[in-house]
Amino acid sequence: MKNSAINGGVLLGKEYIFYIARLDPPLKGREFGEHPINKPRRFKLRRETMENAIGVKEEAMGKTLDVRDMAPKERHPKIFETFNALKAGESFVLVNDHEPKPLLYQFQAEHDGQFDWWPLEQGPAVWRVMIVRRKEPDPERTVTEYMQSDHRRLDSIFGRFLASVKEKRWDDASGEFREFSLGLKRHIRAEEDILFPVFEEKTGMRDAGPTVVMRMEHKDIHELLDRILKNTDAKEDSRISADSFTIANLLADHNMKEEHILYPESDSLIEERERKEVIKKAQTL
Ligand SMILES: [Fe+2]
Ligand SMILES: [Fe+2]
Repeated sequence: MKNSAINGGVLLGKEYIFYIARLDPPLKGREFGEHPINKPRRFKLRRETMENAIGVKEEAMGKTLDVRDMAPKERHPKIFETFNALKAGESFVLVNDHEPKPLLYQFQAEHDGQFDWWPLEQGPAVWRVMIVRRKEPDPERTVTEYMQSDHRRLDSIFGRFLASVKEKRWDDASGEFREFSLGLKRHIRAEEDILFPVFEEKTGMRDAGPTVVMRMEHKDIHELLDRILKNTDAKEDSRISADSFTIANLLADHNMKEEHILYPESDSLIEERERKEVIKKAQTL
């Protein structure tokens, strides 16, 4: 995406609409202080889809492979057989009874750049992870591309959650919000524990740079996530609406700053080898 466009979302009534906005004037400033977030801009509204986010069509998302009843030595061969049978842009959800870390390491070693790994549930009894055969394999993918597709993936889950709340499908809403919250908290950990320290080391900006602002906003995001989950379990629609509006706006602004400043800046500062490390480590969270 060019520097003159942003993505994000707004709640219109009870409908959540994702948008790409063309900034007018285009984004020029590199400092947060010059950021034109509050300047007039035109919106082109559209909905976020999983296909746009991570290259997987909705109809190619239904497959599940539950290996809990299989003998341990049969599990990995079956999982790789399933992965190898996927076409580009298809996925399956692996269901397991323990954290599948050795499996991830095997994927990283044998299928570098060909897969995506998006955990949906992480214990204590069940682990679920969405494994995707990437549409365009790319072992040299950038941090920007990786983190941005996670933003969009999360936007898409959040959109599904809001639709479920609107239709009062509370079980769906609760499952979807758990996926959203888990995904966003992992994403924030990837930033705070893996990416930001690299950025801070390269720029020397530790106490007054953009990562300080991002970390502060992450705290607000965490609070909102926990509150929305509580209110979803309690089926409190009106409170969910208000907090959803807040988190949607906060994320639209926050993600834009990361996608246009922090991530590209990180990509330009670090070497290819380090970029790879950041992404590999982020997948293990
Ligand atoms: Fe962030
Ligand atoms: Fe982010």
